[in-house]
Amino acid sequence: MKTLKTSLSKKDLLSLGDLSSDEINLVLSLAGKLKKQQKSGKAHPLLHGKTLGMIFQKPSTRTRVSFETGMYQLGGTAVYLSASDIQLARGETIEDTARTLSLYLDCVMARVYDHTDIQKLATFASVPVINGLSDAFHPCQILADLLTIQEQKKNLKGLRLAWIGDGDNVCNDLMLGCAKTGMSMTAACPKGYEPPDEVSSLAKAEGKKTGSEIVVTEDPARAAKDADVVVTDTFISIGKEGERASREAVFLPKYQVNSETMGLAKKDAIFMHCLPAKRGQEVTADVIDGKWSVVWQEAENRLHVQKAVLCLLMKTV
Ligand code: CP
Ligand code: NVA
Repeated sequence: MKTLKTSLSKKDLLSLGDLSSDEINLVLSLAGKLKKQQKSGKAHPLLHGKTLGMIFQKPSTRTRVSFETGMYQLGGTAVYLSASDIQLARGETIEDTARTLSLYLDCVMARVYDHTDIQKLATFASVPVINGLSDAFHPCQILADLLTIQEQKKNLKGLRLAWIGDGDNVCNDLMLGCAKTGMSMTAACPKGYEPPDEVSSLAKAEGKKTGSEIVVTEDPARAAKDADVVVTDTFISIGKEGERASREAVFLPKYQVNSETMGLAKKDAIFMHCLPAKRGQEVTADVIDGKWSVVWQEAENRLHVQKAVLCLLMKTV
C-alpha cells in the first residue's frame, strides 16, 4: 500500500512545480481540516510563537490580508515589509536581506516582480520562502483554486478546465496544478501571450503521469466547450499597465468570458477568477456576479490553503 505523505520535501514553495501530486493532496486535506476548525470556532494554535515576514514589491489585498490573518488564527504573528521601506530599496542585496531576515523570522512570504528575486531569496534564506506572486507563478492562488474545485465537484481527476486569457503567472501554475491532479486543461491565449514553452512542456509531461491532457490553443470556444471549470484573469497584470492599449486590442472582444462562453461549457460549469477583476474586460458582470461564479469561495480559500502551507513548511503538523 502506498504510504500517504505527511510532510513536504522542499524547503520552499515557489511554484506548484515544488509539490508532488501527493503533496498537493496533503495541503488540500489539511486546508479542509483547518477550514472546518476555523468555521466551528475551534482554536488551532499550530504556529504559536512563530513569525512570518511578508515582503511586498507590488500591491495586494487578498494575499496580504489572508497571510496576516492566517498567522494570527494559527497563534503566530506576521510582519508587513513593504519593499520600498526596507534597505532593499537602498540597494542592500537580496542575499543579505535573506540572511538577515532568517535571523528573526520563521518563514518569509514575498511578492516580487522578477521570479529570479524570489529564487535568490529562497537560496539565501535558511527559513522557508513562499511565493506570494511573481511574474512567473502564483502557487498559493492555485492551491486555493484546487480546493474550491474539489469542494464544488468532489473529485479533481477527470475534470476539464478552460483557461481563457493571458498565459500569465496564474495560468502557469494552474497548468502544473491541473497536470498534477489529473485535470485536463485547455488554455486559450492569443498568439504571443501563451504560457512559456518550458511550463507547458513540464505540465504536459506531468499530465502523462496522471492522465491529464494539457493543450494550448488560440481558440476560446475550443477551450470552453464542455468545460467543468472556466477560469480567467486580468489582461493587464501588475507591471504591465504600460501595455494597456496594445493588450486591449489583442484580447478584446475574443478573449472575454461572457454568458456565451459559459453557454459552451457544461451545464453545471463554474467560473473562477483570482481577483482583482475588471468587469467588462476579461469577464462580464453577469458571469462574475452570476450563477456560475465561485470567486468569493475561491478568495476565502486563499486563507485556508495558506494556513496549511505555513504549517507544513514550518513543520508544525
Ligand atoms: N489574487 C490575489 O493574489 O489577490 P491580491 O493581488 O489582492 O493579493
Ligand atoms: N496576473 C495578475 C494576478 C494578480 C493576483 C497579476 O500578476 O497582476
